[in-house]
Amino acid sequence: MALISLVRGMRDLLPAETGDWRRAETAAAACFARYGYGEIRTPVVERLALFSRQLGAHTDIVKKEMYAFADRADEELCLRPEATVPTVRAAAAANLHRGGVARLWYGGPMFRRERPQKGRYRQFWQLGAEAIGGAPAAAIDAEQIIMLSALWAELKIGGRLQLAVNNLGAPAERAAYGKTLAAYFRRHLGDLDEPARAAVDENPLRILDSKDEKTAEIAAAAPKIESALGAGSRRHMDSVKSIIAAAGVEFLEEPRLVRGLDYYNLTVFEWTLKDDARRQNALCGGGRYDGLSEQIGGPPLPGCGFALGLDRLVALAESRAAAAPDCFLTAAGARAEYCMRAAEILRGAGFSVWQHGGGGNLARQLKKADAMKTPLAIIVGTEEETQNTVSLKRLRDGKQCSAPLENAAAAAASLHSPTENI
Ligand code: HAM
Repeated sequence: MALISLVRGMRDLLPAETGDWRRAETAAAACFARYGYGEIRTPVVERLALFSRQLGAHTDIVKKEMYAFADRADEELCLRPEATVPTVRAAAAANLHRGGVARLWYGGPMFRRERPQKGRYRQFWQLGAEAIGGAPAAAIDAEQIIMLSALWAELKIGGRLQLAVNNLGAPAERAAYGKTLAAYFRRHLGDLDEPARAAVDENPLRILDSKDEKTAEIAAAAPKIESALGAGSRRHMDSVKSIIAAAGVEFLEEPRLVRGLDYYNLTVFEWTLKDDARRQNALCGGGRYDGLSEQIGGPPLPGCGFALGLDRLVALAESRAAAAPDCFLTAAGARAEYCMRAAEILRGAGFSVWQHGGGGNLARQLKKADAMKTPLAIIVGTEEETQNTVSLKRLRDGKQCSAPLENAAAAAASLHSPTENI
């Protein structure tokens, strides 16, 4: 029988990759904590109604990418396609905004039934952060952008990324601009590609970032949102730009940046890879969503946040091979109980210990330890067991010693210090 295969667009992360993932997650968690963000974990399964309208009835995600299903009690549920809406729900339900702004970060798998390709999966991981409640201050948006720039610097990828920002204005300004745009695109209907034609009435802003050559040409000549913005919106964005510029963050103003979700107003931003023109080159995107809480039945709560694609981040960041275990414990005639005791004593002192699982004589086991690049071999044969000792050998230079079992860790430490293996 053939091995049952993975679901398309899903993937296994194997030990050779998970170390890099964990390091990226750890760096991000530490960075977010430095800015006062606390971790939140929301469920993977949510009510479908939480997303349908909030993300936008005419967005790709809602129209064709939701993993939606009726459960056994006929409740309309789905796998979360993103975590901003659930985080706002959770913050409103638990009154987390009581003390002012609730700063929350999250990490975990999201699900979108997109066409899979490199860097685009149906189950993908996001790390994100949301600042919910308080006043819609430009300093909050700016601080998130500065925080992310600090993270890119720490991961040594800042030089490869390009930040674009745009101002979508207040909801009424955005809506008015949508009407202006729809009227403009209607005049060019015959020259637009099929998806753009379908979006003219439903979601005209979306046409602005079309990748179709002819459509993009028409979009480039479309009226700019700038003309629809009021003084308050301009002030907000000017302030965001001034704060991030003063902090040394470089950015491009991109009037065609609209993002793929409908809940945004005012600030939107996105980091893409400089040297890659593919569509799935966005590493991180976000912005302000001041009307979202009320849309899901919550109190009025301004908010701003972002999410980065961890699959894409790990592919970019430096990769480091996992270190070999500190010790290779050869089974050279001692009973399994004795080997296990020796291994546990060493582990208790912080050494990682690989116990040889199969047969083979001592020479073959030592060869395997060498191939694994294990610094120490711990030899426990019948003689060692009878004398209640262990023998240790440093494989680099062949230096050997023997010690009573209870002193095994000190003897190991005299030859090699335990490796930090996370
Ligand atoms: P998003 O732009 O849909 O925003 O996703 C954020 C990031 O998730 C993208 O920039 C990308 O790196 C990654 N991503 C999205 N789809 C896939 C995929 N199919 N495969 C691999 N990676 C993917 C949001 O989700 C918003 N909730 C962000 C936000 C938070 N806005 C405000 N707060």
